[in-house]
Amino acid sequence: MPLISPWRADFPALDALQRQGQTYLDSAATAQKPQALIDALAHYYANGAANVHRAQHLPGAMATQAFEDTRHKAGEWLNTGSSGQIVFTHGATSAFNLLAYGLEHLFRAGDEVVISALEHHANLLPWQQLAKRRELKLVVLPLTAEGVIDLDAAASLITSRTRLLAVSQLSNVLGTWQPIAQLVALARVQGALTVVDGAQGVVHGRHDVQALGCDFYVFSSHKLYGPDGVGVLFGRHQALAQLQHWQFGGEMVLQTDYHQASFRPAPLGFEAGTPPVAGVIGLGATLDYLNDVNQAAAAEHEAGLHELLRAGLMLREGVQLLGEPQVALASFVVEGVHNADLAHLLTEQGIAVRAGHHCAIPLISTLGLSGAVRVSLGMYNDAEDLERFFNALDQALEVLR
Ligand code: ALA
Repeated sequence: MPLISPWRADFPALDALQRQGQTYLDSAATAQKPQALIDALAHYYANGAANVHRAQHLPGAMATQAFEDTRHKAGEWLNTGSSGQIVFTHGATSAFNLLAYGLEHLFRAGDEVVISALEHHANLLPWQQLAKRRELKLVVLPLTAEGVIDLDAAASLITSRTRLLAVSQLSNVLGTWQPIAQLVALARVQGALTVVDGAQGVVHGRHDVQALGCDFYVFSSHKLYGPDGVGVLFGRHQALAQLQHWQFGGEMVLQTDYHQASFRPAPLGFEAGTPPVAGVIGLGATLDYLNDVNQAAAAEHEAGLHELLRAGLMLREGVQLLGEPQVALASFVVEGVHNADLAHLLTEQGIAVRAGHHCAIPLISTLGLSGAVRVSLGMYNDAEDLERFFNALDQALEVLR
């Protein structure tokens, strides 16, 4: 299959960026948006914005219907089974904070929360701070040299003291899939709750939360080609029932006087205030668009591009990959070259990649680095994007050496 994306034309920003002389290779930070999403946002704003779950008027009813349709579509996307298990938040970070505060009452001093060494800040800091508040032990699962959570170590570190496991499905720095089903199984045997960070994983292939067996699964819309400002939290009914209300305000309340209140259960009980109505509706349109994409063809295209990226990097003298990336992205350093200098020269040539710590400072430090350059791919990237990247990389390295 030629590495020309059949979906590129569906994403108008790609052309616009090219006219600006930019090659976009930072989709793991945020993805460009399909026309279907742009149309849905324009339609919603042009035809009557309204709040949801509040008004009886027609615009309110229509917005509520579209909003709830997205809840249904997100549930289908993750194969949640029964409905009512999707909570909308303001992003993945909000979802992790909701979990860390909403589950806090379950923890006693000395309990253990298990994360892994590759977590990005969103799935580290909420647990780290919870551990401080409740005097818990934060256990960090080590990685293999390939950049995968070490299952042997996990089997001995996940114990009867473990109350919660929170791990990423796909590393945003290493591009490695993690053995989620096995880790979740280890935690469940110990009666621990399980949280999967799907921020990167959800973008590549379809995932089934029932097969993964996790209690919670989190992703952000903006990395899945959707609007920003929207997070999706899946929770199994029994797991959501353990969450205490965290943020308080309109819509999540059932009844209140000046001194007492009672609150709705999930999902609405965890969507205090006006939610990101347009964003959620836009996510629905994005999921419709993605549902029409041949997933096997997209996976094949992405795998081909990834191989081109990986092989091209390994060909260059002095380039060292972080871990053994499997999909979507590759992070690297170059012997004798500072990542910031390299990133600067790539930027000057219109190559949009990410450099630095990738919101995962502890991982980068554990690897003994101050930073790395990351190239990340979307379904709209072509082999030509990588050709431009490699030309720019060669030029930059010539200057820096
Ligand atoms: N966590 C995001 C990234 O990997 C922002 O770039």
